[in-house]
Amino acid sequence: MVDITPTPADLKINPRNLRFHQDGGMPDRWWLNGDPVATAFFNALSCTFPKGEKFFMDSVRHYRGAVGPELQQQIAAFIAQEAVHSREHVTFNKLASDHGYPVDILEARTGHVLRAVRQRSPVRQLAATCALEHFTAILAHQFLKSGASDLAGAPKETVKLWSWHAMEEIEHKSVTFDTFLSVTKHMSRPDATRCGYWQ
Ligand SMILES: [Fe+2]
Ligand SMILES: [Fe+2]
Repeated sequence: MVDITPTPADLKINPRNLRFHQDGGMPDRWWLNGDPVATAFFNALSCTFPKGEKFFMDSVRHYRGAVGPELQQQIAAFIAQEAVHSREHVTFNKLASDHGYPVDILEARTGHVLRAVRQRSPVRQLAATCALEHFTAILAHQFLKSGASDLAGAPKETVKLWSWHAMEEIEHKSVTFDTFLSVTKHMSRPDATRCGYWQ
């Protein structure tokens, strides 16, 4: 039996149009304590965001007209948050690229995977978004719970970027799943569950 935690009644999604790294702010190539592996982990994650978040927005936007007014508002706020996240990670990725990190290669790989997912039906694309947002929320929760300790020693501006992104991921984590539940409400639970199957 799957335990589905309901969305809090007082859920409020607040898009914040913040900008980071306006003056560079990534002083060297291995910006996380000179550690190439730790730096590469965050750089690689960031490389998936511009194309990944565009996919999330598109898959949810597809159903914006098919849900109730409250969820419509939450979807609009979700899209606003993800759009600003992408803009700021484009800036971050440009800095990583300027320091020699192979951003183009990782973005191309992300695009290759997403092109395959975009061949699926809209509801399967939405299911994929639910799964990926769920992983993102787990990572964000862990990151915030530790007081951003994974980035201890990183430039302040970079810590602020990742903390803001993690906080907003927690805020909007239920929107995609609520949308999925709404658009599959006429399906049996096994049929809805099968939407998440690859084949
Ligand atoms: Fe995001
Ligand atoms: Fe997200």
